[in-house]
Amino acid sequence: MSWWQEAVIYQVYPRSFQDTDGDGIGDLEGIRRRLPYLKSLGVGALWLSPFYRSPMRDFGYDVADYCQVDPTFGTLEDFDRLLREAHALGLKVLLDLVPNHTSDQHPWFLESRSSRENPKRDWYIWRDPAPQGGPPNNWQSFFGGPAWTLDEGTGQYYLHLFLPEQPDLNWQNPEVREAIQEVMRFWLKRGVDGFRVDVLWLLAKDPLFRDEPGSPHWRPGLPDRARHEHPFTEDQPETYAYVREMRQVLDAFSEPGRERVMVGEIYLPLSRLVRYYRAGCHLPFNFSLITEGLPDWRPENLARLVEAYEGLLTRWDWPNWVLGNHDQPRLASRLGEAQARVAATLLFTLRGTPTWYYGDELALPGVEIPPERVQDPALRRQRDRAPTPLLPLGRDPSRTPMPWDASPRAGFSTAEPWLPLNPDWPTRNVAAQEQDPRSMLQLVRRLIALRKEPELLHGAYRTYRAAGGVYAYLRGEGWLVALNLTDRAQALDLPRKGRVVLSTHLDREEGVGETLALRPDEGAVVRLG
Ligand code: NOJ
Repeated sequence: MSWWQEAVIYQVYPRSFQDTDGDGIGDLEGIRRRLPYLKSLGVGALWLSPFYRSPMRDFGYDVADYCQVDPTFGTLEDFDRLLREAHALGLKVLLDLVPNHTSDQHPWFLESRSSRENPKRDWYIWRDPAPQGGPPNNWQSFFGGPAWTLDEGTGQYYLHLFLPEQPDLNWQNPEVREAIQEVMRFWLKRGVDGFRVDVLWLLAKDPLFRDEPGSPHWRPGLPDRARHEHPFTEDQPETYAYVREMRQVLDAFSEPGRERVMVGEIYLPLSRLVRYYRAGCHLPFNFSLITEGLPDWRPENLARLVEAYEGLLTRWDWPNWVLGNHDQPRLASRLGEAQARVAATLLFTLRGTPTWYYGDELALPGVEIPPERVQDPALRRQRDRAPTPLLPLGRDPSRTPMPWDASPRAGFSTAEPWLPLNPDWPTRNVAAQEQDPRSMLQLVRRLIALRKEPELLHGAYRTYRAAGGVYAYLRGEGWLVALNLTDRAQALDLPRKGRVVLSTHLDREEGVGETLALRPDEGAVVRLG
């Protein structure tokens, strides 16, 4: 098995992990100082959300220089030191590559917009206004409003699937692809272990720029992007060739035991998602638990999801699972802490590489953000346009600072943090949960350690029962995972006697006969005899 199959990937949102220079915003030096914590959790790889030079209109997903560290986060030297020390601890480091768009302040875009004749004009996607005036077609931005903005100076529109300050690069242009590949090489030479690639499924656009058809699901109040289906701005056939090229760059830096990997951010139905394996993406993010599992948290539904996904993989495809990230509501807010513990048990005992979002190990809740402290540009834009945006509270609630201890500002910073702390930080913090033998933090640590059992790593998955509030499955020959998704006691007949090795309640390790009694909200991992 390769390291990226065995590892748990832990997502760090650098703004909110640890501040060391007293500006209320986390930095690379802060992440470095917290490496021992990450090591103690047992994770194998860190994915760092963007820390590149950026005007921060979308908090770093608007890159103005792909090869520089933004001063908010430190310097290239800080990065090198972080990487060196992570590697010394046996932790891999994945960077966030944002190839679909740049900041409108990136020198490439400044050149591109300077005149129609500029050699970089074709690096972005420029179109004339529609014959009757207005945007060239009906494409809508993810953050609300048309995906086109008129550049007064040159009289053409440029495309931006996100903010107007995030113009889309023209991936049809081989110079653009080469430039992004150079960025990859820059970081690979410094030693990074791979990339999480932002919006991988959006890189290519319909060369004919056709209008997208109306969506039958749209109703007034939904975000603008939901007005249409997206046959012309998502998952275009050219994308696979682009993925293949990126994979070649990674392979050129790979050695046996030291593969450099590509994790792809892709929101697509599973049947289309798995095609990205064929294109060469090591781990196309499987968000099905987030999009379909959490909203319908029943055994029948979870088993259906897992079986559907497992059924689509060939023996060369390695599965992966995700429960949260910086764009999604917090796990604990979706399920409550008791079921968040059950969900963690699921994530770490399914076959495949799990990705874990910082703070979820504390069951950190989504934090209510007072209107005057809202930061998320997507929410600011959508607030006025869509009374029921996809995420009514925006993404800030999931991006709040990591609470480390009960000292002022939770040990995160000496200044007022850029987003408020969770109100219960004096008790819900890392130090407190280190002391509590039954905390969520201890559970996550135990699960990550248990996942190293060979059969839990690569044993086949088989549904055992998915009914009556209990979801149970076998891993390999010797393991059974039983999850009580209800707040009532349940019983499960076992195939044979065994031993409860771990309970979400962290209060029992004991032999078990033919019947396993599950308490309310209890998940158990059983070693079968
Ligand atoms: C997906 C990222 O996860 C999100 O945070 C960002 O706003 C968009 N891509 C645009 O880069």
